[in-house]
Order: sequence, then structure tokens, then C-alpha cells
Amino acid sequence: MEAASSCLSQSSYSYEDYKETADWLLANTKQRPKVAIICGSGLGGLAELLGDRNVFQYKDIPRFPISTVQGHAGQLVFGKLQGRECVCMQGRFHFYEGYNIHTVTYPVRVFFLLGVETLIVTNAAGGLNGSYNVGDIMLIKDHINMPGFSGQNPLCGHNDDRFGVRFPCMSDAYDGELRALAKQTAKEQSCDSFLQEGVYCMLAGPTYETIAECKVLQTLGADAVGMSTVPEVVVARHCGLRVLGLSLITNKVVTDYDSTEKANHEEVLRTTRHRTEDLQNLVSHLISKI
Ligand code: HPA
Repeated sequence: MEAASSCLSQSSYSYEDYKETADWLLANTKQRPKVAIICGSGLGGLAELLGDRNVFQYKDIPRFPISTVQGHAGQLVFGKLQGRECVCMQGRFHFYEGYNIHTVTYPVRVFFLLGVETLIVTNAAGGLNGSYNVGDIMLIKDHINMPGFSGQNPLCGHNDDRFGVRFPCMSDAYDGELRALAKQTAKEQSCDSFLQEGVYCMLAGPTYETIAECKVLQTLGADAVGMSTVPEVVVARHCGLRVLGLSLITNKVVTDYDSTEKANHEEVLRTTRHRTEDLQNLVSHLISKI
């Protein structure tokens, strides 16, 4: 048994690691959030809106991964949004930064052990769907786990039943009720004119896509492409959290060989700044209804 298990690729974390982190947080804050939010690139402003805040730097939280990237906030913010207690990750861990897939998803299991029931994920994404405009917000209705196709699935390895089943269902990954609530809230907040609903495809990055790759993704039925979110959603669904995903379409991908347009990080950040308030508005009003 010993010899067989040593041949298996293992998650670098045990149940006790996640538990130690969660217990430390529970001992250091009185808040008991039912909602967790993972803020995408440039979308961390949401955490600034929280009242009654308890802020923990990642480096001060036992066993929590450390943000090695310069300029990343790297903090967990507990607080109230529209009167509802939530916990917000300001700065996520990306696979392209060199973190392994278990580290990328570490916070999600901690959220589960804190008693969180709903996960809201936001990201910046490139628009593959020709009818999308820069600045649109896409409700994620499904995903394509491209790194998962090549074995980079965070659930590979030993399954711990205390988190979830060996073969979790993913056909209902993005909660239908939460999406309906988001559509209704978008109407009330006058955001519905730029709200879309579609399929998000994750690539490992950090390169943006070639023209040929974009054409492949369009053929596969993806509406938006990005470099995050999917591993966290897989782990969240494994442990039974309800998920709402929102992509901000920061650029349109290039699919024309004659085009002089080039995907670039500056454009992504510019659009994010432009729409960040609308996205924050949508999420905070939605939270009051969950
Ligand atoms: N491709 C991948 N990731 C992205 C993009 C893109 O065009 N825009 C923002 N994140």
C-alpha cells in the first residue's frame, strides 16, 4: 500500500492544512461569511466597499499561499457588503504565475471550512463571440477546462471524501438561480444593456492566443477566453458551493490575419477601470438578495 501510494501524484496539502488555516481565521474574526468573492485582475476594488472590515495579509495567515507577484494586494478581506457578511480575496493565484493547481485552489477549500455556501468569481476575459463588445459583462453559464484536458485538474490525486465525491458532476457548475438573480439585478441597476451570458474557456496563459487558437476556441463554442477561474470553480463545486461567475470582456480577440490589433495587458486594465464600478454595483446588489 505504502509503495503504491508513493507512486501517486499527491496534492501538496492535507485536510489538516486547510483546517488549520480556517480555524485560525475563525479565531481571528467574528465574521461568519456565507459568501466568498474572488476578485479578478483589476477588480479588487470590490473589497474596498466592505464595511466592518477585518483584513489579513496572505503572508500572515497560517499555511495560506503567499503572493509572490509584485503589485498584487494579496489580502483576505472580511466585511459587510449591503449588510451581508462576506469574505473577499483581493489578489488570486494564477497558474501562469507558476503556482501548482492545488495552490491556485487552496483558498476555496478554506472558504468551505469557514462555512461559506456561495462563491462569486470575477475575471477579465477576451471576447471570442463576435456579438460581444468591449466592456460587456458575461454571466458564465458553462466552462471549458482546457488545462484539465491535459491533466491539470485540481481534483487529480487522492480524493478526500470530507470535501466531496471522487467524480463530481460539472454539468450544473454555474448555478441557474444565481444567474437568474444576476439578470434581474442587472435590469434593476441598468446594466442589462451590456450583460451577456456565455461559455468561458480557460487557457493556462500567460501568452495571449494566436489567431488559429482563437478560431479553434470559437469552433468549440467558447464565448470568452481567460487564464483563471475554472480551477477554483471545479474545487468549489466538488465541495458543494454554489457558484456565480462573471467575466468582464476587456478586449476582443484577434481572428483576422490582416488586423493590426494586438491583445495587450494595458487595454485589459483600461477597460477594467472603465467598467469596474458597474461590476461592483451588480455584485453588491446581488449579494443582498442571496
Ligand atoms: N485572452 C486571455 N486572457 C485574457 C484576455 C484574452 O484576450 N483578455 C483578458 N484576459
